[in-house]
Amino acid sequence: MAKEIEFKNFKKSFGQKAVHEDISFSVEKGECLGLLGGSGAGKSVILKSLIGLMKPDSGSIFLEGQDITLLNEDEMVEIRKQVAYVFQNGALFDSMTVFDNLAYPLREHTTLTESEIEKRVHDLLNEFNLATDDLLYPGELSGGMQKRVGMARSIILGPEVVLYDEPTAGLDPFNIRRIQEMILAMKAKGVTSIFVTHDMPSAFACCDRIALLRKGRIVHVESVEKLKQNDTGMINDFVNGMTA
Ligand SMILES: Nc1ncnc2c1ncn2[C@@H]1O[C@H](COP(=O)(O)OP(=O)(O)OP(=O)(O)O)[C@@H](O)[C@H]1O
Ligand SMILES: [Mg+2]
Repeated sequence: MAKEIEFKNFKKSFGQKAVHEDISFSVEKGECLGLLGGSGAGKSVILKSLIGLMKPDSGSIFLEGQDITLLNEDEMVEIRKQVAYVFQNGALFDSMTVFDNLAYPLREHTTLTESEIEKRVHDLLNEFNLATDDLLYPGELSGGMQKRVGMARSIILGPEVVLYDEPTAGLDPFNIRRIQEMILAMKAKGVTSIFVTHDMPSAFACCDRIALLRKGRIVHVESVEKLKQNDTGMINDFVNGMTA
């Protein structure tokens, strides 16, 4: 299978602090890769680097074979249409309704007419069981609903790659299940994704493989199938709180 995402000898420091010593891993086209690692290990920095919000000190990030660390800001704007980042907090516009929040990327980045936009937004809200909330403002939604609407907005342009940054953190079982369904629905459409999480049931439900980030390196990558069968090894030690 073709590699859609590849980090090669990625290094990143903030001041004196080396966060990423040497990161190398890849994600196949259509695959969902889980990314585990302790708080502050650098998971969000990896995702932000993939949409050019941060640049590595050295190393490369290939997206369909193109090294995006070499692109200028205008070229990165094009990349961000293909690569969606689902932020840790929904990042909705508080002054806009759910409908307008979802319509916003379409109005900004496409030439769709207002009636086409309306159809696209309502189709997506229907698909994700949010249809009755279109006229509410983010402040009127529960945290779980905000996250689901934030995710819907992130993917409305039909991205090829979606980066999920702890989308289920702090949610109740009902909303966690809905988020898992959204991730699986995106996967069924052929989307390639990286799923940062501490929520192992969700990682097991959605991911093909899981990578463990520790001390600035990807120290282990394992298929979910194998992890389910085998309860020993580095990833299980991390999940069970045996290592930081
Ligand atoms: N813009 C920045 N300036 C300085 N340091 C930063 C910046 N962004 C991240 N860092 C540092 O890089 C390290 C990794 O941060 P990151 O947000 O990627 O962690 P994380 O693995 O996503 O953690 P969490 O699970 O808590 O979200 C942290 O020590 C953080 O303080
Ligand atoms: Mg983070």
